[in-house]
Amino acid sequence: MWAELLPVGRDEATGGYHRFAWTPAELECRAWFLDEARRRDLDVEHDANGNMFAWWLPADGSRGDAVLTGSHLDSVPGGGAFDGPLGIVSAFAALDDLRGRGVTPRRPIGIGAFAEEEGARFGVACLGSRLLSGAIDPARARGLTDADGHTFAEVMHNAGFDPEAIGPDDGLLARISCYVELHVEQGRALDEPVGVASAIVPHGRWRFDFAGEGNHAGTTGLSDRRDPMLPFAHMVIAAREAAERNGTVATVGKIKVVPGGVNAIPSSVTAWLDARGPLDDAVRRTVKDVDEAARVAARPHRVSVDFAEESYTEIVDFNLALRDRITATLGGVPVLPTGAGHDAGVLSARLPAAMLFVRNPTGVSHAPAEFAEPADRLAGVEALTAVLDDLTRG
Ligand code: GLV
Ligand code: MN
Ligand code: MN
Ligand code: MN
Repeated sequence: MWAELLPVGRDEATGGYHRFAWTPAELECRAWFLDEARRRDLDVEHDANGNMFAWWLPADGSRGDAVLTGSHLDSVPGGGAFDGPLGIVSAFAALDDLRGRGVTPRRPIGIGAFAEEEGARFGVACLGSRLLSGAIDPARARGLTDADGHTFAEVMHNAGFDPEAIGPDDGLLARISCYVELHVEQGRALDEPVGVASAIVPHGRWRFDFAGEGNHAGTTGLSDRRDPMLPFAHMVIAAREAAERNGTVATVGKIKVVPGGVNAIPSSVTAWLDARGPLDDAVRRTVKDVDEAARVAARPHRVSVDFAEESYTEIVDFNLALRDRITATLGGVPVLPTGAGHDAGVLSARLPAAMLFVRNPTGVSHAPAEFAEPADRLAGVEALTAVLDDLTRG
């Protein structure tokens, strides 16, 4: 399965993946998913939010009380091969293992591919699972725009969906008894092949718009400038300092400079802050500190600062009963929290959710060096097979 998926959306120069929701590379990944589902004679379902499901139904065709696994196929800009696809490839492989053993499911087993998990195109992470579970207002989602100014509504319409129909699907959620997502571990926290998630730390995204005055880089004296780049530069350093003070992490990984000329003072700089930490208060304090520092830095330059929260996810403590059941099935695996967001975290507001992590020997993620050794991937499939087998028995 990897052989067909690996070249899709890969930049051969860097090895990084660019699979943004509803772009040709991601559509190719979706076609791959549907093909894998059809080859296994699974029942394919699309919800109104662009999420896809492939169901292995019991002999009586019943659809309720299902066990769902899966992950996502989209990527961050220049992402790794495993963040997302590992969960889906492993799910198909686990299903093959169960079939190979002659298991016939008493309850449906589903493989989900959630849309726009990374939020790399429209800015809100886990957009597909947020819409499905009612964690985002559909009207707000319709108005989200990509870098070219296309709205989510427009893109959904062009992909063959009715943008007015997006939103929570309580009927679908009611059919799912639990969700178990397998994912590559994204840091250096796991030193065994497979682990189980305890929690996802609080995390969010904030946008800072610095507006000044565009002007000529050669003819405009320093005292005449209203240069938004200067308070922006302060803000980046302030984010690092606020994170150190508050015991959090903070990142500015995306900016937009207008107009972006070497010989022009920018008229505006937009910067996105990602902040995360073990405690809600500490994350909130970090963001407040950065906002204050940005405003103080902007004043002498006569630059305005607008600030908006784009998304925030409070701490997710995964369902303890499900986690205990999984650790009992797997026996003695490490249980660890993560600083990465996942659809499992969003869905856990509506149903019992859990995660399996597969060791990442590089400790790198959201970058081409992200990796999982073949032997560890196999251990991941074996673990997922055992968990699905257990969960669909009783
Ligand atoms: C998504 O992977 C995130 O944690 O940002
Ligand atoms: Mn990711
Ligand atoms: Mn992911
Ligand atoms: Mn994620």
